[in-house]
Amino acid sequence: MPRLLSTHLLPLAAGLALLLEGCAPELDVRARGQGLSRWRTAPHLPSFLDTHEEELRLQQGGWWGWLAPPWLGRCVVGYVKWPQAAWRAKFNVLASLVTEEEAVAMKRLLEDAPDDFDEDIDGVDKMITYEFIISSAGAQKAHDPVRSARRAQLRRITEPILRERIQPFVWARYPKAGAVCHSMIRRYLERERRTHDTHWDIPSYVSVVVSLDSSGQDFEGGFFVTTGNGEKSFIPLQRGDTVVHQSDLLHGVHVRHGERWSWAMWFQDSWDCSSRAESWWQQEAEARDPVAQTLRAMRAATQQESYSWLQEAAQAGFPRAQLYFGKALEDGLAHHAPDPPAAAAWFERSRLGGEIDACASAEIVVEAGLEGYFLGLWEQKRKNLTGARQLFEEGARFGEGKAMTELGVAYRDGWGGAKDLDLATQWFERAADFTVEAMHQSYLMYSQVRWPHLERAS
Ligand SMILES: *[C@@H]1O[C@H](CO)[C@@H](O)[C@H](O)[C@H]1NC(C)=O
Repeated sequence: MPRLLSTHLLPLAAGLALLLEGCAPELDVRARGQGLSRWRTAPHLPSFLDTHEEELRLQQGGWWGWLAPPWLGRCVVGYVKWPQAAWRAKFNVLASLVTEEEAVAMKRLLEDAPDDFDEDIDGVDKMITYEFIISSAGAQKAHDPVRSARRAQLRRITEPILRERIQPFVWARYPKAGAVCHSMIRRYLERERRTHDTHWDIPSYVSVVVSLDSSGQDFEGGFFVTTGNGEKSFIPLQRGDTVVHQSDLLHGVHVRHGERWSWAMWFQDSWDCSSRAESWWQQEAEARDPVAQTLRAMRAATQQESYSWLQEAAQAGFPRAQLYFGKALEDGLAHHAPDPPAAAAWFERSRLGGEIDACASAEIVVEAGLEGYFLGLWEQKRKNLTGARQLFEEGARFGEGKAMTELGVAYRDGWGGAKDLDLATQWFERAADFTVEAMHQSYLMYSQVRWPHLERAS
């Protein structure tokens, strides 16, 4: 087993030394984590969050591991309740899993080397990353010779923590988890990156993030969990506190003041860092859980598969899937022609379902509607009536009330195309939800068009 070979020589010596002294003291940090206890019992905890507390005892694996002292500590287990789904995203916060000294030592190694951080573009929010990769199965940068000395120094600190505390916990709680395949330090400094947008860790089977600074002391804000409804629950992590979760946890970072450093790791479900992501939550998705379906969509092998999962989850009423499905329709995923008006409708449903990220898309839709309206007015002024009518139609399909009214007028009076009183009435009616003028026009149309029908009928 590679686990045994690669990581177990050093602690063996350490464990034996302790044993020879005949006093294997337990590493007891249960007294820490008071801030977390206060957080989870605070009255303002959002309603989407459930938590409880557990006492933890972590024993290293391997025959020699049983000789080493166990780690005793406190773990807050949280569940984020997704809207419109039975799914609960579980996460664990282990208080003081990493010691103050270890965290400070890691930071100190990198504070001297501010320029050794990567400044790539983040896949989530297109911001500059400011990452230092300690090890990675995929990234070339993990082998960059310039930084190899510093990586080695960091690994001397991180490997015992992984072996003694993080891996025993992850393997016990997530039995299918394998190796750590990506390990990096991230920094959020003044005048650099302040946020890491709300996201799911799609490439990771189990994610671990260790705070190297203290909330309320070094920074305000930090790591938050959310369901995308605009409500963020910031976890007041202290130096060494560690969050362990899977990719169903929607989360992000927003440092409002001060500076925050963190150490993040991704585990895969294999020992060679290949990932069997196509099987993750397949059963739950097939059993029609919309959260699982949305995660499946994001890991789908083909665009068509992605499209189908999103469509199903969106139709089931899951706001986050409605947002993504809207985007799929907007871009025209998988041989489906782009359909901005249909996308607009899904953004709106998602927004009404409480998905805050849909607001930006909904705003773009509003802008598209207004654009159609104003360009229409412009063409109308230029006496290009056919063009004006087309543009009003476009604005109307994006839900712009003023464009609907103009389109109604065009149908009523027959300019720029055929006259059609039924369509005119329809557009006035729809616009009546948006503009006072249309309400009046709609009333007039009813009084002119509908009354004669009614009279004949009576
Ligand atoms: C009339 O407006 C339409 C729509 O904007 C445009 O495509 C067309 O070129 C315009 N025609 C003229 C003659 O300007």
